[in-house]
Amino acid sequence: MKRIFIVLILSLMCLTQINAQKFQGLAKTPPMGWNSWNIFQTNINEKVIKEIADVMVSSGMKAAGYKYIVLDDGWMSMRRDSITGNLIPDPKKFPHGMKALADYIHSKGLKFGLYNCAGTNTCQGYPGTRGYEYQDARLYATWGIDYFKYDWCNTKGINAKEAYTTMSKALQKAGHPIVFSVCEWGLNKPWKWAASVGELWRTTDDIYHVFDGVHDFGTWSALGVMRIVDLQKGLRKYAGPGHWNDPDMLEVGNGMTTSEDRTHFSMWCMLAAPLIAGNDLRKMSKTTLDILTNREVIAVDQDSLGIEGFKYADNDSLEFWVKPLEKGDWAVCFLNRSSVKKHIDFDWRKEIITDSLSHRKLIAKINKYKLRNLWTKKNIGTTKRVLKASIDSHDVLMLRLHKIK
Ligand code: GLA
Repeated sequence: MKRIFIVLILSLMCLTQINAQKFQGLAKTPPMGWNSWNIFQTNINEKVIKEIADVMVSSGMKAAGYKYIVLDDGWMSMRRDSITGNLIPDPKKFPHGMKALADYIHSKGLKFGLYNCAGTNTCQGYPGTRGYEYQDARLYATWGIDYFKYDWCNTKGINAKEAYTTMSKALQKAGHPIVFSVCEWGLNKPWKWAASVGELWRTTDDIYHVFDGVHDFGTWSALGVMRIVDLQKGLRKYAGPGHWNDPDMLEVGNGMTTSEDRTHFSMWCMLAAPLIAGNDLRKMSKTTLDILTNREVIAVDQDSLGIEGFKYADNDSLEFWVKPLEKGDWAVCFLNRSSVKKHIDFDWRKEIITDSLSHRKLIAKINKYKLRNLWTKKNIGTTKRVLKASIDSHDVLMLRLHKIK
C-alpha cells in the first residue's frame, strides 16, 4: 500500500513537472533591470552595454534591486547562419559574441536578457523566431541568457496564446531558468492566459516620454505615461507573485520634468509594475538616480504581497490611489494630473477604504497609522490628524501608512 502511494506521488510530481509551462519562482516580485530600447533603439554595442552594467553596479542601482540588463531589438545580424540556421550577434556591434557579454554581465553579479519576436522578423526587420523556437531557446541557454523579451511584429495569421506557449515550452525544454517577458502589447488579452506561460506581459502599446496623450509616429503612435496608467483599469486581479502586468519600461531620465518622472516612477510602483529602467545610466543626473533608487518607493513595488494598487477616488484631476502592503501597511498616492498646484485637506477618519480583491480594509477611525512621506523621507504624523498639503502640477504625494498595533 505504502509503495503504491509513493509511486503515485512520484508520478504526480513528474506530471506537474511536464505540465509546468514555465520555471517556477523567478519573479516573486516584479522584475527590475534595464533595457536598451527606450534610449538607444538599435544603436547598441558591447562597449556601451558593458559600461551600462558597470554603472548599474557603481551607481547603487544593483544594490537597490536592479538585476537584469536586457538587449532589445538590433543585437543580431540581418541573416541567420546559412548552414546551422542559428542567430548571429552583429559582429560589428558585438565582436566578442553574446556568451562573452553574458559572462561579463554575470561577473558583475547581474543577469542578462535578450529580445526577439514571435513573427518572421523583429519589429526592426532582424530575423524573427517563427519556426526556430526550440533552436533559438537552446542557443540562448548555451549563452546563459536569463531573461527573454518576446515581441509581436510580423505575426500575421499566428495565434498569440499558441505562439507564446510554444516559446515558453521551448525555453523550459532548453533547461536554463529564464524570465519570459510576453510583449504582444495587450492585443489578445494576455492577462487572461499568460500567467502560466511567462512572468510578465505587456498590457499596452509602447510608452513614450510624455506625461499624457499620445505621440504620433505617422504609422503608429506611442502612449504617454498617464494614458498607460488609465489603460491598467480592470487588470489588477490578473497580477500577483510570479505573473505581472507590464505597463512598459521606464522613461525616467528621458526628458520629462522631475515631477513627471517622480510621478511615473511612483505610479509604476503603485501598480506593482516591472521596473525596467530605459535611460542612459552613464549620463543620468543625480535627480534621476535618486528617483530610480528611492528604496522606500521601490519597497512599495516589491512588496511581498504582490497586490496591485487601485484608484480609490478622483476629483478634478486629483486622484487618490491606494495599495495594500505586508503587515497591514498601505501605500497611498495622491496624484495631481492637472496643470495647476492642488491643495488637499484629507480627513482619514472619514474614509472607509475596502479592497474588494484582497479584502483588506483601511479604516482610520478604527486603526491608527503612522504616515511616512516616501519622497521627502520624513515622518509626518498619524491618520488621527487631517492631512493638509499641496501638490505641484504633475506631481505626487506618496505615503506609507504604517499600522500602529
Ligand atoms: C516593439 C516593442 C518595444 C521594442 C520595439 C523594438 O515596439 O513594444 O518595446 O521592443 O518593438 O523594435
